[in-house]
Amino acid sequence: MKGIVLAGGSGTRLHPATLAISKQLLPVADKPMIYYPLSVLMLAGIKEILIISTPRDLPLFQRLLGDGSQFGLDFSYAVQREPRGIAEAFIIGADHVGDDSTALILGDNIFHGQAFSQVLAENSRDVEGCVLFGYPVRDPERFGVAEVDRLGRLVSLEEKPARPRSDRAVTGLYFYANDVVEIARSLRPSARGELEITDVNRAYLEMGRARLVDLGRGFAWLDTGTPQALLQAGQYVNTMEERQGVRIACLEEVALRMGFIDAETCYRQGARYRNSPYGQYVMSVAEQHGYRLAISA
Ligand code: DAU
Repeated sequence: MKGIVLAGGSGTRLHPATLAISKQLLPVADKPMIYYPLSVLMLAGIKEILIISTPRDLPLFQRLLGDGSQFGLDFSYAVQREPRGIAEAFIIGADHVGDDSTALILGDNIFHGQAFSQVLAENSRDVEGCVLFGYPVRDPERFGVAEVDRLGRLVSLEEKPARPRSDRAVTGLYFYANDVVEIARSLRPSARGELEITDVNRAYLEMGRARLVDLGRGFAWLDTGTPQALLQAGQYVNTMEERQGVRIACLEEVALRMGFIDAETCYRQGARYRNSPYGQYVMSVAEQHGYRLAISA
C-alpha cells in the first residue's frame, strides 16, 4: 500500500499564523503537525509516502523531512497549484500509486488511541473498495457525515450537511483500492469548485464497496482548524506526554518499533536534536532498545 499526505490549502482560518508558513508545519506541542499523520501511515506499515503541498510550502516540507531514509522511509513530493479539492491528491499522485492500493491522510488530522496500530493493520489489508473511519462529534455539520443502519452498514455519506443524519464525522484518513485514481479522474467539481473526497466515497458506496470503521469514544481525533482547537490539540498531546512519559507521533520511535530503522540510527537521529527534550527522548528510546554508545579508550 502507498501513502499520501495532503498538506496544502491556505489555512485562512488560522491567519495571520499561516500567512508565511503552512498550517501543517505549525507545532502541535513539541513537533510539527505533519508528524502526526505521518506516524499514522507508518503504523499502518506504509513506507512509500507522497507529500503534497503548495508551491510555496513544499520546499519547507522537503527541508524538514528530506528523503525519509532517516526513518527508513521513502518520501517523494508533489505540488498542488491551487486547492482544487482533496480528491485531486489521487490525480496528482497517480504515478506514485501505480498499481497499488493507497492510504490518504490529511496533513492536519491527529489521531491517538489504544490499539490504533491493530485497527490500521486489520483495515489496510486487502482493501476491496474504500475504508472510512467514523468518529462521533458534537458538530457533524462541519464534516463529511456517515449514516449507518441498525446492522452498522453504511447507508449515506454527505459533505457538511445543514441537517446531519448522524453524529458520525468521516475523519481525514481513507484507505482505497487502486481504482480510486480512475474515480477521482471522473469527478466533476462541486458547487464550491472542488473535487470532493465525499464524492469519491459516495461512488464506492453506490458500488457497495464502502466500509466504515468506528473509532469510538475512547479514541481521540483532534481538530486543528481554529486557533483554539490548535491550542487544545497541543494541550492534549502535552498532557498525555507529561503524564505517561512517552511521546505521541515520535517518528524515530515509531520507525524503530516498526523495524524500519535500528537502534543506532534512532540514536543518531536523536543526537541531532540533543538540545531539545524531543531529541533527548529519541536517544533514550534507542538506549531502551539496546543501543549502547561505544566509548573509546
Ligand atoms: O478532517 C476531516 C474532514 O476533512 C472530512 O470530514 C471532510 O469530509 C473533508 O471534506 C475535509 O473537510 P475540511 O473542511 O477539513 O476540508 P478542508 O478544505 O479544510 O481541507 C482539509 C485539509 O486538506 C486542509 O488541511 C487543507 C488540505 N487541502 C484541502 C483542499 C480542499 C489541500 O491540501 N488541498 C485542497 O485542495
